[in-house]
Amino acid sequence: MRETYKYTSLKIQGPPRLLIKCFFIIGGLAVFGVLLIFTYDNIKRQRYESPFYSKDYACHDTITCRNKYNSSSIEETNDNSNQTISNVAFFTSLYSDEYLKGTMLLGYTIKKHHPNHEMYLIYFKEKVSESTLCQVRAMGWKTKAIERIPPPWEGAPAIFIDQFSKLQIWSFVEFKDGIIYLDSDTIVVKRVDQLFELIKPSTGFEFAAAPDVLWGKDSNNFNAGFMLLKPDKYVYAEMMRTHKIKGSYDIGFAEQSFLNEFFRYRYLRLPETFNINLSIMDLNPHLWKMLLPDMHVVHYTEQKPFKNPNPGIYVEPYKLWNSLYEEMDKTMNLSGIESICEKTEQ
Ligand SMILES: *[C@@H]1O[C@H](CO)[C@@H](O)[C@H](O)[C@H]1NC(C)=O
Ligand SMILES: *[C@@H]1O[C@H](CO)[C@@H](O)[C@H](O)[C@H]1NC(C)=O
Ligand SMILES: *[C@@H]1O[C@H](CO)[C@@H](O)[C@H](O)[C@H]1NC(C)=O
Ligand SMILES: *[C@@H]1O[C@H](CO)[C@@H](O)[C@H](O)[C@H]1NC(C)=O
Repeated sequence: MRETYKYTSLKIQGPPRLLIKCFFIIGGLAVFGVLLIFTYDNIKRQRYESPFYSKDYACHDTITCRNKYNSSSIEETNDNSNQTISNVAFFTSLYSDEYLKGTMLLGYTIKKHHPNHEMYLIYFKEKVSESTLCQVRAMGWKTKAIERIPPPWEGAPAIFIDQFSKLQIWSFVEFKDGIIYLDSDTIVVKRVDQLFELIKPSTGFEFAAAPDVLWGKDSNNFNAGFMLLKPDKYVYAEMMRTHKIKGSYDIGFAEQSFLNEFFRYRYLRLPETFNINLSIMDLNPHLWKMLLPDMHVVHYTEQKPFKNPNPGIYVEPYKLWNSLYEEMDKTMNLSGIESICEKTEQ
């Protein structure tokens, strides 16, 4: 069959109108193109622009920081040396009595999965009571009083103003094979000490954390509520220097913003299951159930069971927290601990 072609006759319009049309279309495309290139270029730049890299080079690991600080003492560390659990530790921080219950349950869940590891708690003398300290010690935390490191300039939200103090963990160099730091609103639901393997000298890695959930946006930023790190005197010195460089990071998330800038191109990205954000439930409740068997650490970010007993939408995570709390209560005789500690207060 022969195909028939239909030719539409072009109505001849005045050449000026056609020209104007073309002009607008081409012009519009050009503007759009320029905008696209500009935006893309900007995104590209932001992603690969770090104040600690261009204007003020910062060292970030034990070897480069040692060179920078002119230290000749290179300690011999190799993977064949006996890595004992006395060279590693778990850390948390307690900046007020309000987080006592959280700290107790965190300690209980760490010990449950790591009965032989040491646990340390850093705190401010002026903000934590004797009774609270007594109770966390009964749970197995060793306590270390630290000085407060204030935010270096204005703008850190009130809830984060103490958080720069956390940086002092890098100064506890006796734990040369690594520290796992956890915020006191996290719980451990599965063993995590295998992570220390990741920062053995032969790996070249010294810092790891899990990505932050920024309202569901894909983010290159990590959350500082769970960190695997290698303490070092010189890296610490460099942190103390660089965190004060005004404007070198956005202070909105305090120490977390700083650490993200400091370790931007070199942090080892852990699976999100090492720092499960409660807000995953808001974003996708089904995902929570699916991830449950893989979870290592749950972070009670949006709402703390020890501050707000009403679960709201967080029914499943609260169930988990409450059942572990009950288990701890039975095993440890919490009220016994409490009454003994109240006496020491007087
Ligand atoms: C290391 O030595 C160099 C050269 O002697 C000097 O300029 C620099 O300030 C020293 N750095 C530190 C941190 O002491
Ligand atoms: C490691 O420890 C074991 C047992 O404590 C000991 O026999 C061995 O010699 C140690 N190895 C090194 C390299 O220190
Ligand atoms: C949890 O999510 C909230 C909101 O998306 C975010 O502000 C916070 O930093 C997240 N925390 C973690 C542990 O990812
Ligand atoms: C808990 O401890 C208190 C004080 O030591 C003690 O009197 C009480 O009998 C203990 N309770 C249980 C169930 O062990």
